[in-house]
Amino acid sequence: MAIEKVGVVGCGLMGSGIAQVCAAAGYSTVVREVTPELVAKGLKGIEKNLARLVEKGKLTAAAQTEIRGRLKGTTAIEDLKNCDLIIEAIIERLPAKRELFSALDAMCPASTIFASNTSSLTITEIAAATKRPQRFVGLHFFNPVPVMQLVEVVRTIATDDAVYEEVVAFGAKLGKTAVRAHDSTGFIVNRLLVPYLLDAIRALEEGVGSIEDIDNSMKLGCGHPMGPLTLLDFVGLDTTYYISQIMFEEFHERRFASPPLLKRMVLAGWNGRKSGRGFYDYSDPAKPKAMKF
Ligand code: 3HC
Repeated sequence: MAIEKVGVVGCGLMGSGIAQVCAAAGYSTVVREVTPELVAKGLKGIEKNLARLVEKGKLTAAAQTEIRGRLKGTTAIEDLKNCDLIIEAIIERLPAKRELFSALDAMCPASTIFASNTSSLTITEIAAATKRPQRFVGLHFFNPVPVMQLVEVVRTIATDDAVYEEVVAFGAKLGKTAVRAHDSTGFIVNRLLVPYLLDAIRALEEGVGSIEDIDNSMKLGCGHPMGPLTLLDFVGLDTTYYISQIMFEEFHERRFASPPLLKRMVLAGWNGRKSGRGFYDYSDPAKPKAMKF
């Protein structure tokens, strides 16, 4: 069965980006948030992104109208029951995800494919909350979703081959490079990225270099678009701390252990760009200033 209608649960940073790329790829898309205010906020963000693309001449006004027309916001989870594929991008907490998929499982036809955008939880454990683990995959997108070219398509030992191939093809239809990954904690990207980011904090803790020098080293020496400490602020220090805890619990390897500085910054509420302060101070967002520790 071809995927025509997509449901997205969660219209935050990741969910709104996912909904945008699905609608832009021609899919009729329903995106659900818990309150009307959050639905409106998510859709407004998408509209802003589309308007910017029109301003830059990367999208025609007609295409902008068509994309917006394919997007529907809702607070009712029942509105997703006729979707062929449902992608979950809610809070990164296992009980919340299991509860959601259990409810969706009860209301959706047996043919609906379920996908989670989790970055670190085990897909198998989320899928076990449903009676359709064979139609369950991971679809891990990257921030900012409309810009980043990758999607990891994650299969479990229970995922059906045909379902998996259908979702890989879906990822490609979104204009992404869809890489295949097994359900190992952190998949491919976070398995490699998280130890690197944590090591950058360790380097700072040990006085190997300043915040700016660590960032410039990886930007200019390795051609990364952002240095690791800027990227940490971008991803969110709370998010990285949480992912590292899950990965450490799984592998018990020091490379996944949170450095004390990360823990303290999160405890202090310095969660990076979104909280106005992390390794940089974003009082003037156009000119972040490195913090002094
Ligand atoms: N939404 C939509 N478009 C955006 C955007 C956003 N939030 N942020 C930037 N863009 C667009 C800009 O409009 C611009 O488009 P254009 O080329 O058509 O003009 C383009 O992206 C480049 O933006 P800028 O010129 O403003 O700035 P940069 O060149 O510095 O690019 C960046 C910004 C794309 C964010 C780049 O710095 C980058 O690639 N950084 C690394 C991001 C990254 O590694 N993300 C993955 C994080 S890990 C993750 O998500 C997994 C999770 O599990 C932890």
